[in-house]
Amino acid sequence: MSDKKTFYITTPIYYPSDNPHIGHAYTTVAADSMTRYKKMRGFDTYFLTGSDEHGQKIQRRAAEAGKQPKEFVDEIIANFKALWEKMEIDYDHFIRTTDDYHMKTCQELFQKIYDQGDIYKSEYSGWYCTSCETFFTELQVGEEHICPDCGKPVEMMKEESYFFKMSKYADRWLKFIEENPDFIRPESRRNEMINFVKQGLDDLCVSRTTFDWGIPVPFDNKHVIYVWFDALINYYSALKARGDGSLYDKFWPADVHLVGKDIIRFHTIIWPIMLMAADLPLPKCVLGHGWVLINSDKMSKSKGNVVDPFKLCDKYGVDAIRYFLMREMGYGLDCNYNEELLAVRINNDLANDYGNLLSRTTGMINKFQKGIIDAPGAGTEYDQELIDLARAMPDRYAALMDKMEWANALAELWTLVNKANKYIEDAAPWALNKAGEKEKLATVLYNMVEVIRQVTIMVSPIMPGLPTRVWQQLGISDREDLHTWDSLTWGGMPSGIAIDRGEPLFPRIDLDAIDAEEIPSAKSDVKAQVETESIAPIAPECMISDFEKLDLRVVKVMECEKVPKTDKLLKFKLQLGTEERTVLSGIAQFYSPEDLIGKQLILIANLKPAVIRGIESKGMLLSAEKDGKLQLVECPNMPIGSRIV
Ligand code: ME8
Ligand code: MG
Repeated sequence: MSDKKTFYITTPIYYPSDNPHIGHAYTTVAADSMTRYKKMRGFDTYFLTGSDEHGQKIQRRAAEAGKQPKEFVDEIIANFKALWEKMEIDYDHFIRTTDDYHMKTCQELFQKIYDQGDIYKSEYSGWYCTSCETFFTELQVGEEHICPDCGKPVEMMKEESYFFKMSKYADRWLKFIEENPDFIRPESRRNEMINFVKQGLDDLCVSRTTFDWGIPVPFDNKHVIYVWFDALINYYSALKARGDGSLYDKFWPADVHLVGKDIIRFHTIIWPIMLMAADLPLPKCVLGHGWVLINSDKMSKSKGNVVDPFKLCDKYGVDAIRYFLMREMGYGLDCNYNEELLAVRINNDLANDYGNLLSRTTGMINKFQKGIIDAPGAGTEYDQELIDLARAMPDRYAALMDKMEWANALAELWTLVNKANKYIEDAAPWALNKAGEKEKLATVLYNMVEVIRQVTIMVSPIMPGLPTRVWQQLGISDREDLHTWDSLTWGGMPSGIAIDRGEPLFPRIDLDAIDAEEIPSAKSDVKAQVETESIAPIAPECMISDFEKLDLRVVKVMECEKVPKTDKLLKFKLQLGTEERTVLSGIAQFYSPEDLIGKQLILIANLKPAVIRGIESKGMLLSAEKDGKLQLVECPNMPIGSRIV
């Protein structure tokens, strides 16, 4: 047996009721890049994805399309698989809940839990959302009988059903969560789930009789098993019931179930309790990510704002789309998509920062050194800082990737890319060439190549197509030893190699040429998402005189730029009457500086100035905060200098 560490990661199994969209692509790319990263770090990995094919929603959709359910889902599943192939998703297995081994395993677990007395027969009467395949209480659906998750109408259901004794396990669940603080991530989600369970758990209705597209209850075939009970078991049956069971021995329990925030409750409450009841080891972590929003609205077919990921990949390239998704979605936050944001990200990070670094480097090696990477000689005063950062980067990057903070890891890695660009400006190889400083010139060009090599290795799990093209240009295609994580020691790049300069890897996108037609616009005629999340506690009472101490004013953004060497800080020049104020704000993760110019914001104008990173900041801009996400408060239509009263 191998003594390698193992890593088992899953995506949700998607409903093949509609074609895949970039929300599905986000989760799947995240899982794929994490798998590739772990592989690079020497883990034995298993990556599972698949389709969730039973239930009322699929049965209805199929009927609407005039097809049998299986026939209906087959076509859509083919599209999912085609997209994953296009996006270089290298999964180990694609499970379908209509697969025999899964259906059999599901029935066995149902029987086992029934036999031990944790499933019993009763009558269900309550509200059901077919779109979410979820039961809700009277309170949750409100007077209008609307699904609190998706906003669609719910239906009254009254039928004989089997129930799973979830309530019995509430205390054991709370104890488990307490002992395993990393089981639910991010932390804000964990607190939400704890509060939910502390209010008491109801038993869960786990069978249905009013339709038949599902796995029959083994001892009562009038009933089919509730689709979520069926679906969650996929993570287990894919390993346990295929082959000789050695996959299960090797990989169970899962290291990570990657899920969207809308299905966190199923994965962190129902699923672990099912496993407790079945006496099976529990997964180590459920990581809930936010949504890809389209122009700040949730994507959905009924809103007509679903982006076709195939078209997007054709237009911008798979690596760029993967990079965008991983870079844009902050840890635990939603992210916004529109074609312009995508293009700006590609232009800034990939065309300018990374692409230019490569093309300038290879350009100068051709021009000044006849296309040969010469051995470094005498150094320049700028080398050490670059080399120090490069030496520190693998650990810094790994620490963030190990926590599955893709966006932060990429932001960290890009500090090295930017440092290298700054290094070119400072060390000015063209001037060294002119001055005949051959050795120094060779050193600078060598260092640039070595940074590119190292960044390319680190970013390869996110952009798997990139390395081949870069190795080609650097003349090290056949040097596999130089492509590995272990080769990330400074100076690993050999000298004397002939480069092969190619086309720019990421051509700049002309923002004016983006076809507005192709940016789906969010229609607002659909009932807005109902906010069911808990809010931070309200602060203790205060007096109006407390508030009046603050002088809040409307200001206009005249200039805005990132503060170098920081991730979070933006530096603003604000107009306030005749005065121009400099103010820093820690919101760089949420805005591109250029988008803020001209905006009218609210400033605490009489706050004691503070010096941050050597810059004096006079005042503070107001923003709204939830779960780490920030949005600046705007006041677009009042004159500059207006007081907030
Ligand atoms: O829920 N942005 O399937 P599903 C990011 N079959 N993620 C999104 C998204 C968006 N705009 N829209 C959807 C199911 N997702 C069940 C899962 S697992 C045992 C059963 C994510 O096809 C969503 O958050 O409705 C969820 O994680 C996944 O896509 C599957 O959605
Ligand atoms: Mg869904």
